[in-house]
Amino acid sequence: MGIQITPSILNADFANLGAEVARIPSADMVHVDVMDNHFVPNLTFGPTMVEALARSTNIPLDAHLMIEDPDRHAPTYVEAGCASVTFHVEAARAPVRLAREIRAAGGRASMALRPATPVEPYEDLLPELDMLLLMTVEPGFGGQKFLDMVLPKLRRTRAMVERHGLQTLLQVDGGVSLETIERCAEAGADVFVAGSAVYSAADPDAMIAALREKGDA
Ligand code: DX5
Ligand code: ZN
Repeated sequence: MGIQITPSILNADFANLGAEVARIPSADMVHVDVMDNHFVPNLTFGPTMVEALARSTNIPLDAHLMIEDPDRHAPTYVEAGCASVTFHVEAARAPVRLAREIRAAGGRASMALRPATPVEPYEDLLPELDMLLLMTVEPGFGGQKFLDMVLPKLRRTRAMVERHGLQTLLQVDGGVSLETIERCAEAGADVFVAGSAVYSAADPDAMIAALREKGDA
């Protein structure tokens, strides 16, 4: 199976989101960054807007919840039409229950780790997850510099997934570009979020193809 490119709309034109998503027809999923001004110092949108976006496209939505109390809010994003819902482990009270609730609601369950959050405590939780997101910047803003310090953790996570014979996808998010995608792929990532790289390109869909080619090499 090839890699997946999941562009983030954080750097797209928020006044024209439907049209912005129509510019990336070859995206595997559209990465939707939900921020609440508490878990991260930035504010984007909530379930009502996500639901409208889900209705406007056939591309599956990949919600990345950078919010407090995901235990309460995450299932709402499955109901809003997201195919995959990622919560942050640093904010979750009961990650196992939450992952199961997301799956029970019909979504794919995913958990995110900030750059300094170790993966080892969560090894036994991996079978509960369809995807694990390793942040390669501190969450909150697009356009930040890729953190190479996360690569050893990515390698260790890939080894864990293989050791247990799991299908858990490994996603990276933050500073992913033509310059950094090969490093991530080599370290074991198979799903790549790219925000500014895609939406600062003259042709966002051509950038997806270029990223796919580099990451799949
Ligand atoms: C950052 C978000 C990312 C962001 C990535 O907190 O989670 O999804 O949009 O943007 P780039 O690719 O520009 O780092
Ligand atoms: Zn994100």
